[in-house]
Amino acid sequence: MSDAPLEGKLGLVTGASRGIGLAVAEALHAAGAHVVRVARSLQAGTADRRTDVSCDLADASAVERAITRVLAERGVPDIVVNNAGIFFIKPVADTTPEDFTRTLTVNLTAPFLILRALVPHLVRRGAGHVVTIGSVSDHRAFTGSTAYAASKYGLRGVHEVLRAELATTGVRTTLVSPGPVDTPMWDPVDPDSKPGFTKRSAMLQARDVAAAVLFAVTQPERVDVTEIRLLPTVYSPRG
Ligand SMILES: NC(=O)c1ccc[n+]([C@@H]2O[C@H](COP(=O)([O-])OP(=O)(O)OC[C@H]3O[C@@H](n4cnc5c(N)ncnc54)[C@H](OP(=O)(O)O)[C@@H]3O)[C@@H](O)[C@H]2O)c1
Repeated sequence: MSDAPLEGKLGLVTGASRGIGLAVAEALHAAGAHVVRVARSLQAGTADRRTDVSCDLADASAVERAITRVLAERGVPDIVVNNAGIFFIKPVADTTPEDFTRTLTVNLTAPFLILRALVPHLVRRGAGHVVTIGSVSDHRAFTGSTAYAASKYGLRGVHEVLRAELATTGVRTTLVSPGPVDTPMWDPVDPDSKPGFTKRSAMLQARDVAAAVLFAVTQPERVDVTEIRLLPTVYSPRG
């Protein structure tokens, strides 16, 4: 592979201010792409093949404005990574309607809105790659995960339908479903203090997930990596 397999490509990564999204953005950038990072805490601006967009993905009109601006200022992304997500652990009866709705809004509706806005452009071009960051929770049940599982099982459904709809278009689709990854997402849970959870030191690293994304998006055009599942080697059954 060349040193810059993504030279001349435009990537868009949501939730790229920290954790997995930041690692994915850095991996795409290191492979030569210009990367648009989207998150609430980023300062808008462009420098050194990096464009940052500040956007609350829970706000549908803000998502629409952000995508319109990216299309106008940078063009159609070649690689779209729907990564932003939120997570908490609560039994179903303690999960408020607001918790549930917000989780679905950020984890499921926002990726849908981004796909809805960008997929027609990718199809028109006859090329492109949509990467969805799922989770082990998109195919396995964990206690305390009603809202998160609903969002991630739903996201896997979106990925499967998208793959069917895009099958003859030249646009590729990849679902990357990691087990626990040591990112700030775990700070409020503090898994090291709780029995049955994978210790943070044993978790995957954000760069491991980024390497999986990079693998998928640097395959020859004829290869569609449909799904990648990653687990820590030493993995507690609780998650
Ligand atoms: N960590 C894990 O164990 C794990 C395992 C499997 C799958 N995942 C999935 O991987 C993805 C990334 O998780 P992570 O562990 O990297 O989490 P993280 O460290 O908490 O980062 C979450 C990212 O999402 C962004 N985000 C959250 N709410 C947002 C909103 N309303 N609008 C815009 N951006 C928002 C955050 O940026 P701002 O706060 O700046 O907006 C941040 O960049 C998620 O989809 C998660 O479900 C994580």
